[in-house]
Amino acid sequence: MEAARELDKQSWRCIRRDAEHNPDGKNKMQLRFLSRSENVSLARLLAAGMAAENELTVAELDEIKVAVSEAVSNAIIHGYEGAPDCYVEMALALTDTQLVIEIRDQGVGIADIEEAMRPNFSGKSDRMGLGFAFMHSFMDEVEVQSAPGQGTIVTLYKNLP
Ligand SMILES: Nc1ncnc2c1ncn2[C@@H]1O[C@H](COP(=O)(O)OP(=O)(O)O)[C@@H](O)[C@H]1O
Ligand SMILES: [Mg+2]
Repeated sequence: MEAARELDKQSWRCIRRDAEHNPDGKNKMQLRFLSRSENVSLARLLAAGMAAENELTVAELDEIKVAVSEAVSNAIIHGYEGAPDCYVEMALALTDTQLVIEIRDQGVGIADIEEAMRPNFSGKSDRMGLGFAFMHSFMDEVEVQSAPGQGTIVTLYKNLP
């Protein structure tokens, strides 16, 4: 119980009407999980679960899963350099027209975002450097905000049928 409560440092009190808290009427979900490989699959299942409320094909759901896996793996492997006890945050928002998934780490950050996004570029010699390429080809838009020492925010957009 104590351990679970750690997450609850911010106040989640909701005393006002929902419309004031959520003016755009989107369905939203936000979570924070530790930088462990088993959480990659949990994160991707959650994203696919939210996406599944819409009429996407199984193939499209699989693509969303791959994109989320790549972004979360990057946060763990590159952002936190494999340290297992740092928090990754994921925020999901769903409207009638779009699914937006934001993955955020407070890790080392990226010095040259353009270079990092280039297919086959990897900061690590044993890796393929295709994570961002998959995110780009499977999602409609990919945004990256990052700076050295400032962590990284990757936002994935999927237009819905
Ligand atoms: N969250 C992140 N934090 C720091 N660096 C990152 C992050 N995500 C990506 N990068 C950098 O961008 C590079 C390219 O990422 P990616 O296309 O997924 O290829 P790979 O993970 O195989 O290296 C990584 O090698 C790393 O240098
Ligand atoms: Mg990667």
